[in-house]
Amino acid sequence: MTYIPNPTRYKNMSYRRCGKSGLMLPAVSLGLWHNFGAIDNLENARTILKLAFDSGITHFDLANNYGPPAGSAEETFGKIFKDGFKNYRDELIISTKAGWGMWEGPYGDWGSKKYLVASLDQSLKRMGLDYVDIYYHHRPDPQTPLEETMGALDLIVRQGKALYVGISSYSASETETAIGILDQLRTPCLIHQPKYSMFDRWVEDGLLDVLGDNGVGCIPFSPLAQGLLSNKYLKGIPEGSRASSHRGNGAIEEYAITPEKIAKVIKLNELALKRGQNLVQMALSWILKDDRITSVLVGVSKPEQLTDSIKCLENLSFSDEELCAINNILG
Ligand SMILES: NC(=O)c1ccc[n+]([C@@H]2O[C@H](COP(=O)([O-])OP(=O)(O)OC[C@H]3O[C@@H](n4cnc5c(N)ncnc54)[C@H](OP(=O)(O)O)[C@@H]3O)[C@@H](O)[C@H]2O)c1
Repeated sequence: MTYIPNPTRYKNMSYRRCGKSGLMLPAVSLGLWHNFGAIDNLENARTILKLAFDSGITHFDLANNYGPPAGSAEETFGKIFKDGFKNYRDELIISTKAGWGMWEGPYGDWGSKKYLVASLDQSLKRMGLDYVDIYYHHRPDPQTPLEETMGALDLIVRQGKALYVGISSYSASETETAIGILDQLRTPCLIHQPKYSMFDRWVEDGLLDVLGDNGVGCIPFSPLAQGLLSNKYLKGIPEGSRASSHRGNGAIEEYAITPEKIAKVIKLNELALKRGQNLVQMALSWILKDDRITSVLVGVSKPEQLTDSIKCLENLSFSDEELCAINNILG
């Protein structure tokens, strides 16, 4: 049956300008790292993507290696896009990335021009797209000159295969250098995608300042520390959860669910309830409270999780007392 999106989809989502660019992103974006691979249920993936778009989420984030197996999340997205979203291409911001190991040999990893150009061609084929909206270098490469990697991003934009470019997991100083090179090339850095959650606050030590000062957007990934910042693991590791699934490729493992983390989760949860939120919602609004953040990039395994998480937008302000209490719990 033809998919007709919810006509009121733009009413309930807020949109934020990405740095000093012309591009607006939804305050909540959806990532396809897990739950969209060939090992996952296609109909569940379709339901989640439709629910997201119906909720005003215009931005879907992918990478060449998402799955498992690597490449299959882009294939899943391609199938669903072809069946349901093709007519809405101009209402979507689709991103992909290259930078982690993707294929055998010296040209399928890190940050050479050879790898970035070839990988994007493969991604476009898997997704059935003519171009992506944002193309990222997925992680810094200590061996390749940054001029070459940024030059590859610039080339790709000039070829019309991406509209904007970004970087992911670059340190504050690497980011500053990359922004400078891209400025010289006249392909500005649109956005940075760093890991950021209550349990991992490294971006507060300089990166957010660099991004704010340079007018570059920020879209944090794993804002729930892969599900740890929820009630899910309070009574052990439930069947079907990410930590129980041994999905590999960086997915959270059982050993990361420590008693120390759970003790903090319990206290954070109590605080969230006092704010009229659950912990998931508080963890997401805590990230969005900073106006240097463009969008928070969530992952979900079930449609209900997305409905639940989007409600974070109902309370984005924190009192000084609440922030202080959170800092005390996090230690
Ligand atoms: N640039 C990079 O290097 C990089 C790295 C990692 C991720 N990313 C991007 O960031 C996106 C998000 O990362 P992530 O999936 O790790 O984010 P996350 O939001 O921290 O974790 C997602 C997981 O949290 C649980 N969850 C989500 N909403 C929930 C809710 N309302 N209630 C209870 N549990 C909930 C689910 O776990 P269960 O599956 O257990 O149900 C879900 O799979 C990825 O899809 C990808 O696009 C980028």
